[in-house]
Amino acid sequence: MTPHPAVRLDRVSKRYSGAAAGAYAVHELSLDIAAGEFFSLLGPSGCGKTTLLRMTGGFADPTEGSVLLDGEDVTGLPPDKRNVNTVFQSYALFDHLSLADNVAFGLKRKGVPRAEIRTRVAEMLDLVQLGDLAGRKPPTLSGGQRQRVALARALVNRPQVLLLDEPLGALDLKLRRRMQVELKQIQREVGITFLFVTHDQDEALTMSDRVAVMNGGRIEQCGTPEDVYERPASSFVASFMGTSNLVPGTYRDGTVVLDGGPALPVGQRAGLARDSRVNLSIRPEKIWLSEFEPGMATVPGTVRETVYSGPTTTYLIELAPGVSVAVLEQNTDRSRMEDRWSGGERVEVGWRPEHCLVLD
Ligand SMILES: Nc1ncnc2c1ncn2[C@@H]1O[C@H](COP(=O)(O)OP(=O)(O)OP(=O)(O)O)[C@@H](O)[C@H]1O
Ligand SMILES: [Mg+2]
Repeated sequence: MTPHPAVRLDRVSKRYSGAAAGAYAVHELSLDIAAGEFFSLLGPSGCGKTTLLRMTGGFADPTEGSVLLDGEDVTGLPPDKRNVNTVFQSYALFDHLSLADNVAFGLKRKGVPRAEIRTRVAEMLDLVQLGDLAGRKPPTLSGGQRQRVALARALVNRPQVLLLDEPLGALDLKLRRRMQVELKQIQREVGITFLFVTHDQDEALTMSDRVAVMNGGRIEQCGTPEDVYERPASSFVASFMGTSNLVPGTYRDGTVVLDGGPALPVGQRAGLARDSRVNLSIRPEKIWLSEFEPGMATVPGTVRETVYSGPTTTYLIELAPGVSVAVLEQNTDRSRMEDRWSGGERVEVGWRPEHCLVLD
């Protein structure tokens, strides 16, 4: 156990030269990442993820604020003076070198003894399951294999922190899903702190111990995957973290009265004034269309669309003119094709008031 966070960003800001006055890529952002943590930065394009990673790795200097690694202030130090390695989206492997030599490269430069290099490279290639291909060259590999070489090359240096900037971005969906599981396993085995950048919310939820959701150079919410998915702190986080129904309305006496529509029971919300304008957020999988249980609130609606996607079916239900919610149902063996709802049908939708979030 170390008493210091592996990474501490203390009120860091970044304004690129030439940027308009007041235009910050990252703005007064503070963050602690514990040693051994798998931490993800998640957010839309341009929100400052890469900039934050570059400041942590020493590839960019903050305009203000400081970067600490294991308690040591490294602000202003170049990348090679930090115990950090980076895996960029473009793997930048040496095509003319074998996999083993690619992985050995950093150790050779550091003057690590030959015998030790051989052992560590072999161990690392085994870890990423490329031991059999040690003599091959990068151009003969698949995307996923190249990705694993890049990872082995970074891990072999035993950095304290590994920075990964959308390392799976170039892979097809199936390979990406497999690599997510493998990467997480490898991280657990080696126990290195991972700072992982992605704009894919599923990826962040699957892999991370904690996730920071970024928006416009700031962190909107930081917490466990469950925190940010189940209890989003803002409308931005709710809509960015997967599909969410966000319906505008007015809060009044334990209901949200939709514009031009029914009043939806959401439970009493302490601290929310009568007639506040709010967004009601509820996940599609938390809304039911049948077999309601005691305590659920229900309102009538009309099925407008049915989208079948294998294990699940999504229904778009209109509650009032122009106000619809998505409802996700599992296609279990009990729900047969002929039982599904079709367009135009009148239905009841039901939910538990406590599953509703009432947001700004
Ligand atoms: N070298 C640079 N010079 C000037 N502006 C930059 C530079 N690099 C990034 N920016 C700007 O800073 C902001 C944040 O960029 P950054 O690359 O950190 O975003 P990102 O979250 O990584 O986005 P993406 O998901 O598209 O990779 C953007 O508005 C971008 O245009
Ligand atoms: Mg980026």
